[in-house]
Formats: sequence, C-alpha cells, structure tokens
Amino acid sequence: MNAVELLAEITDVGRDRTRGGYSRHLATAAGSDLRDWFAEQARRRGLDVETDRNGNVWAWWGAPGPDAVVTGSHLDSVPGGGAFDGPLGVASALAAVQDLAGRGFAPARPLAVVVFAEEEGGRFGVPCLGSRLLTGDLDADRARALRDADGVSLADALTARGDDPSTLGPDPERLARVGRFVELHVEQGRALDVPVGIGSAIVAHGRWRLRFTGRGDHAGTTALTDRRDPMIPAAATVLAARRAAARAGDTRATVGRLVPNPGGTNVIASSVDLWLDVRTPAGDPGPVVDDVLGAAREAAHAEGCTVALTVESLSPAVTFDDALAARLAAAVPGAPMLATAAGHDAGVLAAHVPAGMLHVRNPTGVSHAPDEHAEDGDVECGARALADVLEELAR
Ligand code: GLV
Ligand code: MN
Ligand code: MN
Repeated sequence: MNAVELLAEITDVGRDRTRGGYSRHLATAAGSDLRDWFAEQARRRGLDVETDRNGNVWAWWGAPGPDAVVTGSHLDSVPGGGAFDGPLGVASALAAVQDLAGRGFAPARPLAVVVFAEEEGGRFGVPCLGSRLLTGDLDADRARALRDADGVSLADALTARGDDPSTLGPDPERLARVGRFVELHVEQGRALDVPVGIGSAIVAHGRWRLRFTGRGDHAGTTALTDRRDPMIPAAATVLAARRAAARAGDTRATVGRLVPNPGGTNVIASSVDLWLDVRTPAGDPGPVVDDVLGAAREAAHAEGCTVALTVESLSPAVTFDDALAARLAAAVPGAPMLATAAGHDAGVLAAHVPAGMLHVRNPTGVSHAPDEHAEDGDVECGARALADVLEELAR
C-alpha cells in the first residue's frame, strides 16, 4: 500500500460533522481507533509495536536499541483540521518501510516509526504533549492536571479509556535509543513550489490564556454605563494582537479561541477566556505578548474588569541539526531548505537528539482547516524521498 492508499484507509475516522474536517483528539474513540489502525498496519509490515509510558506508539524494524533511525509524526488534529497535518508523516513512514523492504534493504541499525500523542494540543492545550513528556520538557503532574474544554482532566480522560495516567513522565531510556529523528510533514505555508523541501528551522512559539473577569448581568436591563462586560476588553485584545504583530514585523499573533462564560445571547458574560498564539522569528515572543497585555489591561480597567494571564506553552526557536540536514539534502537532491512557523514534535526532539524534517508541497498553503491538501503525486514523491533518506541514514 502506498501513502495515498494508507491515508484513504483512515478517511472516515474522526470526521467532524459540525465543523467540517477532522477532530481527532487524545483519549477519544477516534484517537484510539487511529492508534489501533497504526499498530495493525505496522504489524502487517513485520514491525514490533510498543506503546510507551506517555501514549506514544513505536513500531520497530529490528530490535529496539541505541543509534536508531526514527521517523514518524502524529495522528491527532486541531479541531476541524485537515487530513494531512500529521497523518501524512505517519502514512509516508509506513509506505517508506514497505518500499525499503521491497528494495531488499536490511537496516544496519534499528529503524522505528513513531506516532506521538496529542501533537496539536487540540484537546488539552499544550502542543507536542507526548514528545514533551518523553523528553521531560513537560512536568507529568502538570500534564495530568490539564483540562479540556469540558473540564475533564487528562488523568481522568486517560483513565476513562483504560490508560494509566500514573505512568506519564520522562523516558530517558527510550529517548536514548533515538540516534536521529526525521519527520515528514505537509508544508503549512505558501513557501514550497517543488514537491519536497528540507526543514531548516522552526520559529519561536508560545500560547497564553487571558481571563477577563467582569460582572454577569442582563443584556436588556443593564444600562451601558452600568456594565462591567468582559467581552469589551476581550474584543479590544483581539485587535491589539493584530496591531502588536504588525508592529513587530514578520510576527504572527492570533486569537483563535474565545469562550464567554456562561455564554448566552441575552447574558452579559461574567468572564471571558481568550487564547493568544504568538510566533516570531525574533526568537522571543515576550515583547509582543507584553504589548498585547498592556492593551488588554488598559481596556479591562476602562470597563471595570480585571485580566489574568497564564502561560500555556513556550516553544523556543529551533535550528535543525546541520549535519543531518546536509545528509537529507544529499538524499533528496535539489530540495530547497525551508524554515517554518508551524510547531512539530521534531522541534521538541531537536533539543535532545539530531532531528530534521522533510516538507511536502501544499498547493494552496492552507492548513489547520479542512481545505488542507497535498496532490497524490507529491505525496508519492515525499514517501520516496523519506525512503531514500532512511536508506541513507540506516545503512
Ligand atoms: C501545530 O501544527 C502548530 O504549529 O500549532
Ligand atoms: Mn498542526
Ligand atoms: Mn503536525
């Protein structure tokens, strides 16, 4: 089965009938179905499957051991996401293993395909949850206490699906097996005009939550001058984020999620939660966040409200390993080097082991949306390029 056929196999899993696209999250039926599908496909290719203490699934060609060449990505999505962000890397990895076996290739060192858990943070807020737990970059107690939009903790969600949350935590032995990690991913911007590119860097990224608190009241009987409506400073903050990013230059600030409590058409909210996502090649999103927070405080004060800021995640800028990038470039002649403003498990791993990425062209650049796309021919090119890379690294 090639990568296009593998992707077709999961086309009905986790479809979001309300938002469109896919909502595939950790500790849900769709998440479990995808994990089972991967394990089954890996076993059919003769790989040995193990699930680690953080819910990441590893499929080994050869006995697990040090200096392994590891590839893979994730199967979860953002809410209402596309079909390629994550699954393309997993399907391409399985197809590449099959391609290499067909070539009669026998790896001289262990080779593994990994599926990382909850890369998007679509349910519990922190991105790259599985890889951050593996590396120790995320504290296990903090992870267990994360809550989804319905207030369910990660610990309870895992328990409800028969997984044991007490095992979460750093896994230095498993990490020590990884000699090199290469993640293939659909390109998520408009920068790639050939089928395959090589990742050079990831810009710095952070996520913050701002909670505006005012006074719940009646939408009809409360005079405008009597209101303490937290939606007013929240709205000002959405606009301030756009202005702050534009001032900073080549920086992106986004409010993609805003939740009024209690959320009724005829109700002045008592509080509003707003999530801010900032990415900047300047390396430190701090000044942009300070700029937005200044505007948020001013607007909150003017409305008689308060605002509190919580850091949800910080992802420092990543420069991928030069020597590995050179080997990828040699294995995929003519592929351009590409920096990205999207986050990846490869970025988390890069702080611990040599890591690199292959990007596959996305004709419109749309991502994190149902219209995300890659042409079949480009998917095939990507999987072949990944097989060539793995052959070069594992020989
Ligand atoms: C993940 O894809 C992100 O960049 O947020
Ligand atoms: Mn994504
Ligand atoms: Mn992804």
